[in-house]
Amino acid sequence: MTVGIIQWTDEYSVGVVHLDEQHKGLIMLINRLAEEGHRSSVVEDTLDALDRYAREHFTAEETLLRACDDPDLDEHRRKHRAFEEWLSAIRQVYRFTTTTDPFAETVNAFLRSWLVNHILETDMAYKPRLGGRS
Ligand SMILES: [Fe+2]
Repeated sequence: MTVGIIQWTDEYSVGVVHLDEQHKGLIMLINRLAEEGHRSSVVEDTLDALDRYAREHFTAEETLLRACDDPDLDEHRRKHRAFEEWLSAIRQVYRFTTTTDPFAETVNAFLRSWLVNHILETDMAYKPRLGGRS
């Protein structure tokens, strides 16, 4: 296994099929950055795709949480917005970076820990409230 690759396991499941699938898609993009971070065109494309896909996923998750009157929705939304702001700042910085490898490594380390922590802590908190939906 390549160092820094996230392996999906059942422990990451939030109990909602389409949200699990979207989390897997985010993991796939982050893994691509770990595997091909030395290619600058891949880094740029992957960050663009991650930005689009993360926004789509956050909207889907927030829509479901709103429909269920989730008590933590506001705090959850703040975390999503903070991630979007961080990612758009990183995409700006990348345009000016000349050292692709260390950049991709640092970004990947942050993305990995952010996503894993976000799924295991923030997302997992809603699992008992809306488990079993698809
Ligand atoms: Fe979330």
